[in-house]
Amino acid sequence: MGAGWLGRTTFALVVAVSACTASVAPTDDAPTDDDTVDTDVDTDGTGIVDTERVEDTALPLLATCDDVGAGVAFDSTPTWSDDVAPLVQQACVSCHAQDGVAPFALDDYDHARPWASAIRQVTHDRAMPPPGPSDCGECRTFRNAAWLSPEQIATFRAWADGGAPEGRPDLPRLVAPEPVALDRVDLELRPDAPFTPDLSLGDDHRCFVLDMGVASRSVVTGFQVLAGARDLVHHAIVFVTDPEGAAAAREADAADDLPGYPCYGSPGVEGATFVGGWVPGLPPVHYPDGTGIGIDPGAVVILQVHYVARAEPGPDQTTVQLQVEPRGPKRGVMLRFAYTQFELPPGRQQVTRHAHFDRMRPNGSGPLTLWGVGSHMHEAGRRLKVERILPDGTRACLSDVTHYDFDAQGLYLFDEPLVVDHEDDVEITCTWDTRRFDQPVRYGGGLDDEMCMAIVFATIGTPDAPESATP
Ligand code: HEC
Repeated sequence: MGAGWLGRTTFALVVAVSACTASVAPTDDAPTDDDTVDTDVDTDGTGIVDTERVEDTALPLLATCDDVGAGVAFDSTPTWSDDVAPLVQQACVSCHAQDGVAPFALDDYDHARPWASAIRQVTHDRAMPPPGPSDCGECRTFRNAAWLSPEQIATFRAWADGGAPEGRPDLPRLVAPEPVALDRVDLELRPDAPFTPDLSLGDDHRCFVLDMGVASRSVVTGFQVLAGARDLVHHAIVFVTDPEGAAAAREADAADDLPGYPCYGSPGVEGATFVGGWVPGLPPVHYPDGTGIGIDPGAVVILQVHYVARAEPGPDQTTVQLQVEPRGPKRGVMLRFAYTQFELPPGRQQVTRHAHFDRMRPNGSGPLTLWGVGSHMHEAGRRLKVERILPDGTRACLSDVTHYDFDAQGLYLFDEPLVVDHEDDVEITCTWDTRRFDQPVRYGGGLDDEMCMAIVFATIGTPDAPESATP
């Protein structure tokens, strides 16, 4: 543990998949093996709330994940040049560079120094870098969690407390790592015309419908987003649809005069599976070797772009590049556990719900390999924990996003895949802060609605099972 935690993320393949979803409706017909191969498996309807907790206290953390290095001591005050700059290079500068997605640069001493106490605070609170699931070892560990070690947090704190000294002067300016390109681009898609977001009322979220023109069953194994207007595009989420979903998406597109259609959180049509989320500065997304998301002829990409209100509005035409392979990789499934039946009391610092789902996957039997977990709530979400419940009642943690951040949703990949059984149960625990609401908060796709959903990326069988064993 220690410094290795964050170091891993620099080289790890990052699969950031937003856990938004297209559909909130319960599925009545249990899908067959065949039609679950590349659509969300919606286990809605089996989620049963068994407890609710409403508290006016701050969210408790896990014992070891709580460790922000209070006990770490330094012989001398850390300096910018020797201690802090290397951390900022590793953990911050991909966003906090000139022209980066963050509103200010932390790329040299003069830029960083005025932020010293803010840096101390955001790293202590684990608000920055947006961490994804806890990676302290108390739940599972992840290839792409940006979890600072206690020593790293203590370094920022001791530097700020010690007057933020520079150390050796004239350190060269830190530069964001060059964006890595996809090693192969099979499809490049962009909206036909530029779109100028309307930022008069705040951030704008827009879905663009992009034809894939795929002639046969294929598997998407990776993608990359190239932002058009870089200061406007906060992040983007890629979904693929089945043919019915494609028709619904085209209809939504046609109903709106401008390119694309408005959408928040989810693409708002049935039959959409997310492929990934992307934040500027992150490397391209690759699914684990030998796996991907299946698509069929007629599929379209829905590209959801989040435009930030703090930027000057202007035209944007964001591009998505995809790796698509006709055969070979396993067609993975996105198992979706959505708890939809809640009504949360407003004005509370902490409202927690537990929802239980019978079976990991509604149909099929035998082993399933889990590769990673995504968590989805809206802006009142604070924590989302996903557990596997074995037949004897034993609980095993799959993911615990202790510092939920709407802007940092992704599919976080396990360091090691996990083999489970189709018949294991799942429980998800969602915690919200409802203080900004004065009405009860319900499940829904709007800005004033909330969600409580986990997405688990799985392949059928064991990791080394031959491809014929998978859909
Ligand atoms: C993935 C991109 C990303 C990374 C990595 C990142 N930041 Fe940020 N940071 C942002 C954005 C974007 C904002 C503006 C607020 C927002 O949109 O959430 C921000 C805001 C901040 C703020 C201001 C917070 C406030 O309350 O105004 C501080 C301080 C900060 N970041 C420090 C850091 C430090 C230190 C690191 C590394 C340890 C870091 N950030 C890593 C994107 C990032």
